[in-house]
Amino acid sequence: MITREVQWGQYEGVRKFESPQELPEEYAKFLKRLLFVQADTEFASVQQHRPWLDKSPTLEDRWTEARILADEMRHGYQICKLLEDFGPEGKEMVQKLLNMHMGEHKLDSFNMEFETWEDVLAFTALVDRVGIFQLRSFQECSYGPLARAIPLMLAEEQLHIGFGANGLKRMVNDPNYYGDRELAQKAVNKWFPRALDMFGHSGSEGSELAVRLGIKRWRNEEAREEYLKDVKRMLEGAGLEMPDPLKDRRIL
Ligand SMILES: [Fe+2]
Ligand SMILES: [Fe+2]
Repeated sequence: MITREVQWGQYEGVRKFESPQELPEEYAKFLKRLLFVQADTEFASVQQHRPWLDKSPTLEDRWTEARILADEMRHGYQICKLLEDFGPEGKEMVQKLLNMHMGEHKLDSFNMEFETWEDVLAFTALVDRVGIFQLRSFQECSYGPLARAIPLMLAEEQLHIGFGANGLKRMVNDPNYYGDRELAQKAVNKWFPRALDMFGHSGSEGSELAVRLGIKRWRNEEAREEYLKDVKRMLEGAGLEMPDPLKDRRIL
């Protein structure tokens, strides 16, 4: 269910914002930047997955790749539609998004190509999982149009992380499947620090503002803590080890 009143922060209890025209300046500026980064991750992952459309090892993997591509494209489209509501400036941002290439994306995780199939699996298991925590953080947020876009996106991301986690588990346990435990662990070690960086700096002012404006429910470090617990469960279930969360990090 999607509520009509703001659930937390300085506008708690007030009716949610429904259009860019209603937004205080500070809020509009923050929201536009946040939507831009979100859309950038969606389109970037289309670029990363695309080469695997016809390279995935099994028939089922290939079909799932096609679904993931369509899902990420639609997420990007949905977020861009929210940006377009901001008028000429929003439309300009969309144009910019359409012209971003590998290497220009805002977050490091999205500037790394999938060199191997285990990259695809570790990315969906670990990086898409960060996406889920972001989306959950926006769920019921104070901007109504964004709040309403979340449930479908969340359902699809659940499928993506399930696919990644299952694939890693199969690499470890199924001798008839692609790869082995060592390759799976190597890919986990590679993507895990980049995934943790995605939550942003601990004690960040932006994250404080996001909570105060009712846009995000959790601060960066709170979301990262929850994520770590979730990843630990997933990796143990797959027969893999959780790397040291502080190793090879760029954003702490
Ligand atoms: Fe997505
Ligand atoms: Fe995804």
